[in-house]
Amino acid sequence: INSLCNMYIWKKISMKIIDGKKISNDVLDEIKNHVEDRVNNRKKVPHLAAILVGDDGPSQTYVNSKIRACERVGFNSSLFKFNDNINEDELLNEITKINENKEIDGFIVQLPLPSNIDQEKILTQVSPEKDVDGFHPFNYGKMTLGIDTFIPATPSGIVELIKRYKIDLSGKRCLVIGRSQIVGRPISILLSQNQSFANATVTVAHSRSKELETLCINSDLIVSAIGIPKFLKSRMVSDNSIIIDVGISRVDDETSSKGYKIVGDVDFEDFSQRDVMITPVPGGVGPMTISMLLKNTLKACELKDWLLNLIH
Ligand code: GUN
Repeated sequence: INSLCNMYIWKKISMKIIDGKKISNDVLDEIKNHVEDRVNNRKKVPHLAAILVGDDGPSQTYVNSKIRACERVGFNSSLFKFNDNINEDELLNEITKINENKEIDGFIVQLPLPSNIDQEKILTQVSPEKDVDGFHPFNYGKMTLGIDTFIPATPSGIVELIKRYKIDLSGKRCLVIGRSQIVGRPISILLSQNQSFANATVTVAHSRSKELETLCINSDLIVSAIGIPKFLKSRMVSDNSIIIDVGISRVDDETSSKGYKIVGDVDFEDFSQRDVMITPVPGGVGPMTISMLLKNTLKACELKDWLLNLIH
């Protein structure tokens, strides 16, 4: 019986997890070491500030996570909270004050903003040297041209995962689902660039795209950033593909004390017996967004040192 069994040993196939939580912790540890070096050399402690307008639940959670991560690496941080009745001019004024505040090295305006406020106007007011989200047109343009600058944190986190897992995308078919300013558009630009981690053949799909399932099955890597819970099913992808799940949706869950749980764009359980690499939600791209924002803040602080040195 033993030998018969041996003839039929099936290798159980299961998905491989891309562990964003672990990589994010590694990045945070590296940042913490840099901060300790700076303190030992009597250099300034990096300081990140966040502007939060209104009382959107998820936005509050994200901002709190960012502030907590600052504490973990030894950064200073400030949170500027405003009611959603703040008008555009008042908010522009607050941004000007933070631009001029010498203690703050980098800051973000948490999105989305209330609909009466012009997002483009607000993001353009952020001083490009402090724009650690990389959303100012000046920095976004530099990113598009492949010039060194602040790369938006979520796409930057995806790139970091690709680098640290040594995933070779050269010539591979990458499908980005979603064309948002924050994720879809920038990641599509980064993955198609002539860089050792990139060089992919990128397709950007969006709400008007036809034959999305055909596009999915013909892809080596899928970045899904549409916010539709459990949209991507196992039957839609090929073996050996890599799936980056950027979705963070709250769905009702009576078994949880909060009354909801966080679900990605990918139907995770549906993939459990597939030969694919996948980022879980939570614990995938989310933590990377936070660590890359802090990395940008360290960069802003170092850039300031460098500029001050140049003057003196
Ligand atoms: N809202 C969702 N993602 C982000 C982000 O990366 N930065 C900011 N500022 N707001 C967001």
